[in-house]
Amino acid sequence: MTKRTHSCGALRGTDAGKEVVLAGWVSGRRDHGGVIFIDLRDREGLTQIVFNPSLFPDTSATAHTLRAEFVVKIGGKVSLRPEGTKNSGLATGDVEVLASQLEILNPSETPPFPLDEEGVNEDLRLRYRYLDLRRPAMAESLRARHRAALAIRHYLDRQGFLEIETPILFKSTPEGAREYLVPSRLNPGKFYALPQSPQQFKQLLMVGGAEKYFQIARCFRDEDLRADRQPEFTQIDIEMSFIQREDIYLLIEGLVKSVWKEVKGVDLATPFPRVSFQEALETYGTDKPDRRYGLKLVDFTETFRTSSFKVFQMAVAAGGVVKAFNAKGLAIITTGQIEDLTNLAKSHGAKGLAWIKVEKGEWKSPIVKFFSEAEKKALTEKLQVEEGDLILFGADQWTSACEVLGLVRIKCAEYLEKAGKLKKDPAALDFHWVVDFPLLRKDPEHPHMVASHHPFTAPVGEDLAFLGSEPEKVRGQHYDLVLNGVELGGGSIRIHQGDLQDKIFREILKLPEEIVTSRFGYMIEALKFGAPPHGGIALGFDRLMALLLGQESIRDVIAFPKNARGQDVMSGAPAEATPRQLKEIHIKTEGVVGG
Ligand code: AMO
Ligand code: AMP
Repeated sequence: MTKRTHSCGALRGTDAGKEVVLAGWVSGRRDHGGVIFIDLRDREGLTQIVFNPSLFPDTSATAHTLRAEFVVKIGGKVSLRPEGTKNSGLATGDVEVLASQLEILNPSETPPFPLDEEGVNEDLRLRYRYLDLRRPAMAESLRARHRAALAIRHYLDRQGFLEIETPILFKSTPEGAREYLVPSRLNPGKFYALPQSPQQFKQLLMVGGAEKYFQIARCFRDEDLRADRQPEFTQIDIEMSFIQREDIYLLIEGLVKSVWKEVKGVDLATPFPRVSFQEALETYGTDKPDRRYGLKLVDFTETFRTSSFKVFQMAVAAGGVVKAFNAKGLAIITTGQIEDLTNLAKSHGAKGLAWIKVEKGEWKSPIVKFFSEAEKKALTEKLQVEEGDLILFGADQWTSACEVLGLVRIKCAEYLEKAGKLKKDPAALDFHWVVDFPLLRKDPEHPHMVASHHPFTAPVGEDLAFLGSEPEKVRGQHYDLVLNGVELGGGSIRIHQGDLQDKIFREILKLPEEIVTSRFGYMIEALKFGAPPHGGIALGFDRLMALLLGQESIRDVIAFPKNARGQDVMSGAPAEATPRQLKEIHIKTEGVVGG
């Protein structure tokens, strides 16, 4: 047989009569009274092959031995399918190939799961990822990712960016996650850290005069994993000199537009709206709001300042706020679900979660007996309370009250969606920038304030005066790109003055001298050698692809992802090291190690 002439997705009615050679995997085999039909699959599609024993007895005899996932090459003539057997759901559905030749290139064991079924257990798919990748949906996902990466490279190249690689063996990076350490054999007792992002290098490239850098960069973070988090993931990492925030917004809007156009053929409307951090938290209880649905938080601090409901009155007296939202139509909530919401609130530091159900014209709630008529009227008006609604309250300091209700809001939207009372339009693309973040935030695990983004973020110029006296008031030149409630990316204009960077580390973040010198000394030094003003951003490429393709999990847009425990269940990584390997890198472990 000659080399293959076409892919399995190529043949059309106009090819009828051609002699062709195809290669691929046997996807399904049907025996119709001696005539054998197989679907031959490669990454481009499926083609129906017919083995007719009365025409080609030897070839058809061999076809009887074919099983799922055998790799074969067939030669034969393209023929129009008889009327009534055409398949309009398949690109090649008008034709079939009447096989005269068949070569089995490699047989296959019986696959552990059927490749044409949905809903296969994910651990099984990951254990046999090489089979899973043969499924058309996964093949399409890899192809779309490639096309998106190309579109990004072309776009950035046209804008004058250089793609520059940066080291993987590095040292600690302050992005806030735990890091992966790599022991150094040549430097006993010393460790590299894998980069959480190329942050320092891209800034150093600006000091080095690169002006416009990008990299489709692998990053490593030892975090608890979720559907949108992997221990190693990919960023579209960007840095530019002599720019301001607006330049980044414009650049990224253009980039995202070109990706959606290239992969989906969709024209996105730009510019993306801007939402301040303050407004996002106040209205949606999160800095990455999903604004495709309402359930907005409303402030009732003044309403309850002198309330006889002590829980609310005392929260306000302590300088806090009372906030509430109307989970419209959710009076159908079960007692168990209310308990789950309360536990969710409590696990994020709330003291409780007050609620009111409106059923049969009555307000049902353990607390409503404490409410005055005026209080009820204010709630009814501002929340447009009607029959069938559920109202939920948070009373706490502003940030906690907002954040807790923000989480409860998301959960309520899920309940409403399940009950068919709310529909998030999957086609709606709510891109927006969240801006004006505070430069610093309190962190329960630290005695001092910590950087909201990372410590290289520049303060807003006009707020610089408060840095010493009221640091919580200082806004950072930080921006996040959000899509449908997911943080797609974040970045900032950086501090480019060595002395200001030094002051932030020492006086504001109050890092000990030895940490400043050992971890950041080289950065501060570099900034003192004529660093240009610069800034940048990183978009999560995996998240971008998942949203683009409508996938729930970023694992479905990564060829070889880790499972939720950070394991590669196919190869068995992470695995034990041998005593000899450990000795070479000067590591002693406690307990049992493998041999
Ligand atoms: P940041 O930490 O916000 O910023 O990360 C940027 C984007 O990377 C994605 N991301 C992840 N994706 C998958 N799995 C993870 N574990 C994970 N962690 C982050 C998110 C996020 O928005 N150096 C800065 C950028 C800058 O300032 O220029 C940085 O890394 O989509
Ligand atoms: P208590 O008087 O503490 O039993 O609380 C009465 C109701 O108010 C219960 O439903 C609590 O869950 C709720 N609650 C208590 N503290 C808060 C708070 N800080 N914010 C919102 N609801 C609260």
